[in-house]
Amino acid sequence: MKDTPIISGPKRVTTRVIASMKQEGTSIACLTAYDFVTARILDEVGVDIILVGDSLGMVFQGHETTIPVTLEEMIYHAKAVVRGVDRAMVIVDMPFMSYQPSAEEGFRNAGRVMKETGAGGVKFEGGERVADLIQRTSQAGIPVMAHLGLTPQSIHQFGGYQPRGVSPSEAKGILKEAKILEQAGAFALVLEKIPARLAGQVTRSLDVPTIGIGAGAHCDGQVLVVSDMLGLYEDFRPRFVRQYATLATTIRESVRNYVRDVKQHAFPSKDESY
Ligand code: KIV
Repeated sequence: MKDTPIISGPKRVTTRVIASMKQEGTSIACLTAYDFVTARILDEVGVDIILVGDSLGMVFQGHETTIPVTLEEMIYHAKAVVRGVDRAMVIVDMPFMSYQPSAEEGFRNAGRVMKETGAGGVKFEGGERVADLIQRTSQAGIPVMAHLGLTPQSIHQFGGYQPRGVSPSEAKGILKEAKILEQAGAFALVLEKIPARLAGQVTRSLDVPTIGIGAGAHCDGQVLVVSDMLGLYEDFRPRFVRQYATLATTIRESVRNYVRDVKQHAFPSKDESY
């Protein structure tokens, strides 16, 4: 049986709904998901946007960065997520090198994601350099979420996971690029790991909503990686993650109990047999 969403709201979250949430001051709840079961639970309880993030490269595939994730893998995960969702808007991250070579290539790959997965939009990382791509893609009717600040596909260029936009010149650049991405047609903008004050300035300067991750409380919505907030991924825990559960511990205890029961011939019981 399906749970009642915490937030009663529209039957389907669309770009129009997202835009009206900013106007009404309703905060947008976004989480990542990579599989059917998780997506279904997130959708049932009222998550507005489900992001099939390329963070799956780290928390699902076990890579050190998001760089190795392929377009085929994103499509595979996005199809599973879409099957679990009735209400939320599903956005698919475009992985490294699926759009960097040229706007034309990125645009075609975004079209492929839309056709093959049934998702509601795509996300590109980067500033002014992806403005042309965002314009083409959104003009073709594909909703685009932009992503500024700590953009993990550029991690080798940044040289680490330090906050971005701390220096006045970088902060100015983020403010300027946010406006360019909005003008190019982005319907929303992820701001990752930048000072809360800067995120507030960006949020006030845009008509489209900002979704923060490690960007403080002034954004129009928040996003977290689901495996981080559920305490499933234990390798790395940034300060901005609020952990709502300790699932890795729960799984360890459950599996330990199962192994014990099997070894002691305590499972299955008569009732669990035919
Ligand atoms: O890949 C991802 O999960 C993301 C979010 C953290 C915004 O880009």
